[in-house]
Amino acid sequence: MERMGETSKLDWWRSAVVYQVYPRSFADGNGDGIGDVTGLTSHVGYLAGLGVDAVWLSPFYPSHLADGGYDVDDYRDVDPRLGTLTQFDAMVAALHGAGLRLIVDIVPNHTGSAHPWFVEALASPRGSRARDRYIFRDPLPGTDLPPSDWTSIFGGSAWQRVADGQFYLHYYAAEQPDLNWANPEVRADFARTLRFWSDRGVDGFRIDVAHGLAKDLHADPLPSQAEIDRIGPGPDHPMWDRDEVHAIYAQWREIFDSYDPPRAAVGEVWVASPQRRARYATPAGLGQAFNFDLLRAPFEAGAFRSIVAANLDIAATSGSTSTWVLSNHDVVRHPTRYGLPQFADADDAQAMAQAWIASGGCEPAQDVALGLARARAATLFMLALPGSAYLYQGEELGLPEVAEIPPSARQDPAFFRSEGREMGRDGARVPLPWTRTGPSFGFGASLSHLPQPPWFGEFSVEAEDATPTSTLNTYRQALALRRRLGHGEVLEWMDTGDDDVLALRRPGGWMCVTNFAGRPAVRPPGRLLMASGPLANHDLVPAATTLWLMEE
Ligand code: NOJ
Repeated sequence: MERMGETSKLDWWRSAVVYQVYPRSFADGNGDGIGDVTGLTSHVGYLAGLGVDAVWLSPFYPSHLADGGYDVDDYRDVDPRLGTLTQFDAMVAALHGAGLRLIVDIVPNHTGSAHPWFVEALASPRGSRARDRYIFRDPLPGTDLPPSDWTSIFGGSAWQRVADGQFYLHYYAAEQPDLNWANPEVRADFARTLRFWSDRGVDGFRIDVAHGLAKDLHADPLPSQAEIDRIGPGPDHPMWDRDEVHAIYAQWREIFDSYDPPRAAVGEVWVASPQRRARYATPAGLGQAFNFDLLRAPFEAGAFRSIVAANLDIAATSGSTSTWVLSNHDVVRHPTRYGLPQFADADDAQAMAQAWIASGGCEPAQDVALGLARARAATLFMLALPGSAYLYQGEELGLPEVAEIPPSARQDPAFFRSEGREMGRDGARVPLPWTRTGPSFGFGASLSHLPQPPWFGEFSVEAEDATPTSTLNTYRQALALRRRLGHGEVLEWMDTGDDDVLALRRPGGWMCVTNFAGRPAVRPPGRLLMASGPLANHDLVPAATTLWLMEE
């Protein structure tokens, strides 16, 4: 427990490095091809050795897996394919024993369609108490059309017709019916769930679609999709980022604060501005909110600098710290993103990456070495920032996105609901390679639930362990230094006289210099602590490289 003592017990999350585990693809303890709780428990030593402070565990609950577990059928149990509650408790004990904290994912916007409440709603008449837990509506008057033309995030209509002609809202897959948060039973049940996991010792929660719970669907007729797109997230949008959502989190905060130490929370929040995001991150609310700005930005000095500046300012005024993310289970892994041609904006980047996956990883041509160099440089830049950093499993191996998954093996509802126009997120969710060889590269005893490509062994923990300059050893070195040097929550920008080079200083003299250009740049003075890539000439910062220096 030594490491826990080093950070403040109460606000450990303010500067934590949190490692996201997508449990079905992390490690398979029982050899059935699906990652599980015992698989995670047996790799706690690996995570402690990597140097992270906490694990965020994506949904591990009973689920029909229409959306990778984000369709929850029972919020207070473990999917039997992943383990049992007893195994969960043993995992918590192992993590705590190694000085690591645990954040679990809570999915309150929608349940799975096999959740007993939804089964009951389908079997109950219109206007019933069971239907009121969800959002059921009659068709447009005089027609059998859905109440509005709203589209699901994964494609197709956001309304699904049921046997008696009513429709229910599902902003995601049809197997993810949206809950009605105006219903007191819904609120009470989630309060119970938060206590259930807090009582089992979890240290915090990641809140899925945190901006979407409060809905106002009273307008008659409902506004069109074009209208709500024009309105955008905010107080006038019928679903996203309405002001009433904060009353829910104020109630949750009372629950979190009734524990010692208080439970932490971080919201997945897609809103219009860092200012709106900060409203979720106040001490009276969730405490922290995800900032996806870096993840959506091109590898470009100006973009990175303005994102950092804006978010640090806002975080300070909300009483929180900023979060930083480069990869997660929803996006194309950052070494691949940065190896594709530079893009104009995030939507363009997404379209390009999806085209690249659809071509089996051929078009547009990717510069693999440059992508990895930029990814490592961006990671070192991110880890030098005040606030907390969220890492996604496999990024410490420099894993690229896997393009070569055949349609028959794909799992993402985005692929199916868009009829293959979107390839989806499976390429970031392929089970991790632990060993150079073996039937599933050490993931488990048998083949993995998503196919691994033949080249996966090169990126395995075993291969990278043995190479001092590997991405894995670079992450380990960086996390150990960050733990030692990352004091305070401020940064000072340094003048580099070069628009492509960002340099910043943290209290105590720790400096981070990132060269975003494709040519070397002049290196500022300071003792070299580490570099994100090879250094041929110690007077220069190579292209696409970050150096950490100590003021002399
Ligand atoms: C956000 C999660 O990160 C994503 O994986 C999921 O598909 C949606 N929320 C719906 O739960």
